[in-house]
Amino acid sequence: MTADDAILIAPSILAADIGALAAEVKAVETAGADWIHVDVMDGHFVPNITIGPFVTEAVRRATTLPVDVHLMIEQPERYVGDFVKAGADRVGVHVETCPNLHRSVAQIREAGAKACVVVNPATPATALEHVMGNIDQVLVMTVNPGFGGQKYIASMKDKIETLRRWIDAQDHPIDLQVDGGITPATIGHARAAGANCFVAGTAVFGKEDYAQAIRDLRKQATSPQG
Ligand code: DX5
Ligand code: ZN
Repeated sequence: MTADDAILIAPSILAADIGALAAEVKAVETAGADWIHVDVMDGHFVPNITIGPFVTEAVRRATTLPVDVHLMIEQPERYVGDFVKAGADRVGVHVETCPNLHRSVAQIREAGAKACVVVNPATPATALEHVMGNIDQVLVMTVNPGFGGQKYIASMKDKIETLRRWIDAQDHPIDLQVDGGITPATIGHARAAGANCFVAGTAVFGKEDYAQAIRDLRKQATSPQG
């Protein structure tokens, strides 16, 4: 069963002007964004430090859109509850940080959010095979996490295709999201492989006109691949 054929665009606030965060979030909402993507980094799992529940709460106050929190932190189970309390509708944990993955996804759902599992570029799809029945979202990283503005790794295609097949074989909806290097030039590649939800940092917040940037992404997502 497919989650939804609609294309979902999730701008990442990592590329926003954090000094004007509420206005930036409202601006992309007005510009046609579907979700707001919040990148949480701890300086351990990834070589960068960003934000926590406190700032997530400010994002929550600024929008009625789903708040999609991507935890790039070690021992994410220590903080899942705090992010859901801060207003996260969706929480993603990396399989590389969760030795007891079933317990981690159950924790997210019990806290009241949709559960997402994230895989780094070097992690195979098989890492998710036994949790497909317990999750609401899969995130395939198309860069190594830590920074915005990196180059899309096109060889993730096979993994996205495999996960699309597994998702379609489930009897509950699962969104298939990609994150990293998504631009009008790469979005069609990920869409053709089966992704339905696209995180975009610099391809939205790096542009003057957010509405035009989101329209360009949607348009290129469905244009034929060369
Ligand atoms: C990378 C983050 C991404 C990042 C994407 O570690 O998970 O969400 O913001 O940025 P772009 O779209 O610029 O590659
Ligand atoms: Zn992200």
